[in-house]
Amino acid sequence: MENSLLPRHVGIIMDGNGRWAKKRLLPRTAGHVQGAKAFRKCLRHCADIGIECVTFYAFSTENWKRSEDEVNAIMDLFSDYLDEAIGMGEKDVSMRFIGDRGRLSDKLVRKMEQVEADTAANTGTVCCLAVNYGGRDEILNAARKLISDGVTGDDITEEALNERLYTAGLPDVDLIIRPSGEQRISNFLIWQAAYAEYVFMDVMWPDFTEKDFDLALEEFATRNRRFGGV
Ligand code: FPP
Repeated sequence: MENSLLPRHVGIIMDGNGRWAKKRLLPRTAGHVQGAKAFRKCLRHCADIGIECVTFYAFSTENWKRSEDEVNAIMDLFSDYLDEAIGMGEKDVSMRFIGDRGRLSDKLVRKMEQVEADTAANTGTVCCLAVNYGGRDEILNAARKLISDGVTGDDITEEALNERLYTAGLPDVDLIIRPSGEQRISNFLIWQAAYAEYVFMDVMWPDFTEKDFDLALEEFATRNRRFGGV
C-alpha cells in the first residue's frame, strides 16, 4: 500500500474475548488466553508491514469491576508476555506502557520498566500497551502535571498538554479498529483520536487475523480525511 495511505498510528480495542469464550462454552479467561495470542500475531504483522505506532487497549480503568479471577487471569497473561519480551525481545519493536501504574503490582511494574528499557533503542514499530488506562484519567493526570510544572494562562496550550499525556512524543492516532461489533470508543485515546477514522468489525478479537487488520487498512485508505478543511 502507498505509504501516504498508511496510518502512522493505529489504535486497537481488543474486544469480544468473553463472547468468544461463551459461544464455545468456555470460561471467559479462555477468551483472554486466545486474545493474547491474537495480540502477538497482530503486533508482529504491524512490525512486518512497517506501521510506525500501534496501541492496544489491554485493560481499562473500569476493568477492575470484573471478578478477581478474571482480573488476575488478564494480569497473568500480561506478565507472561512481559517475560517473553524480556527473554528474547520483539527485536525491532519498541514497547511502551500507557496508563496509571499505581494500582498494578510492584512486580509487574518492574517488568514493564525493564521491557521499556530493553527495547527503547529499537527503531521499528512503537507498540503501546494500555494497561489500567483511561482517556479521562490521562487528561486529568496531564492537567495535574501542568499545574505541578507551574504552567499557567496562555502557556497552557495543546502542545503543553500533549507533552504530558502518556503518549507524549507519539503521533495522534489516525485509525481506531474495534472488533466484536460494538461501536463505542470506551474512553480510549479520547484526546489523541480527535481526527481519527474508526473501523468497526464484527469479528471477535480472539479470531482477529492479519487479514482483518489489512481489511481495516484498506477501509482507512478509502476515507477522505479533511481535518476540518474542505
Ligand atoms: C475485552 O473483551 C478484553 C479485555 C478487557 C482484556 C483484553 C486482554 C487481552 C487480550 C489479554 C492481555 C494480554 C496481553 C499479552 C496484551 P471482553 O472481555 O470485554 O469481551 P466481551 O465484551 O465479549 O465480554
